[in-house]
Amino acid sequence: MKETFAAYVVDKKAERVEGEITTLSAAQLAAGEVTIAVAYSSLNYKDALAATGQGGIVRHYPHVPGIDAAGTVVESQSPDVAVGDRVLVTGYDLGVGAFGGYAEYVRVPAAWVVQTPATLTTFEAMALGTAGFTAAMCLLAMERNGTRPDQGPILVTGATGGVGSVAVNVLAQQGYTVAASTGKADQHDYLRQLGASQILSREDVSLTGERLRPLLKGTWAGAVDTVGGATLSYLLRTADYGGNIALCGLVGGHDFAGTVIPFLLRGINLLGIDSVACPMAYRQTIWQRLATDLKPPHLDQIAQVITLRDLPGAIAAILQGQIKGRLLVAPQA
Ligand SMILES: NC(=O)c1ccc[n+]([C@@H]2O[C@H](COP(=O)([O-])OP(=O)(O)OC[C@H]3O[C@@H](n4cnc5c(N)ncnc54)[C@H](OP(=O)(O)O)[C@@H]3O)[C@@H](O)[C@H]2O)c1
Repeated sequence: MKETFAAYVVDKKAERVEGEITTLSAAQLAAGEVTIAVAYSSLNYKDALAATGQGGIVRHYPHVPGIDAAGTVVESQSPDVAVGDRVLVTGYDLGVGAFGGYAEYVRVPAAWVVQTPATLTTFEAMALGTAGFTAAMCLLAMERNGTRPDQGPILVTGATGGVGSVAVNVLAQQGYTVAASTGKADQHDYLRQLGASQILSREDVSLTGERLRPLLKGTWAGAVDTVGGATLSYLLRTADYGGNIALCGLVGGHDFAGTVIPFLLRGINLLGIDSVACPMAYRQTIWQRLATDLKPPHLDQIAQVITLRDLPGAIAAILQGQIKGRLLVAPQA
């Protein structure tokens, strides 16, 4: 590996967290048995929070964000991982407590490393990244609870985002009727290309106010909710009998208004999704599924590549909900 290399480092200066491209050396990398030359990381909503000091995600500065990384192993002290292996890491403490993927190299514990499946290119692995992994977790959680394509439509919220785009594409490919809610009036064609057959606005799927009725017309067999907040309030009231709501995100807020009534009268299920601490055996199963039967057919349309220099603008845009699909970060570029 190179002695010094480029990284996007965020630091706290006078209570403001700001990032810049600087040079790091191997000695500054995190502890771990495996060093990876990063071909791609990606930009997730959580990365933008981490890079701007929001959400209490980063505890120590200076810090290198990037909760995803994929590339080739250049050093290994682990018998399970060899130099030259094509690997990926998502979640755990990557880009949170440990330096993440926005650098030419990342060092991680061997226990975090997943061998990139042979049927996924490194580009495809990061086009999926935490977002695609989470979308697959949502689908599998709904299916474990009995959701099947013939039971009715599935609503994906925040649909043009990273998790949302992959969820729309994977669900449609699996034969589900997919409805997508979006705040982007100019991206309906994109969502239809990914497989959505019905598009709703953010307002259509948001409920606020003190006098909310506990039940509205049962409409959705399931949902992948990346928004939370007033959208989750809507979903709880409109999930159809036995409906499964896979809740993974909070871009619309932490709090939601709801009653026990939909659970008692419609037997709905609210399924919490956590990709970060997902156990390794299940993690590997999900990556194998993403590399085979769950592989989204339109990853090329979903993902674009940016460089470390593009990060400040991209971070501001994702916090404003303006990014479409997935942004891969190429630290070597
Ligand atoms: N639980 C887990 O393990 C896990 C894993 C991955 C992600 N997440 C969470 O899932 C969420 C989505 O992540 P992501 O990386 O896909 O983010 P993203 O790419 O920024 O997508 C979020 C999408 O939500 C919509 N949106 C943005 N602000 C909104 C608002 N104020 N109200 C309603 N909708 C809004 C936008 O889509 P439209 O314009 O189409 O509406 C936006 O593109 C985040 O909260 C993230 O932290 C959780």
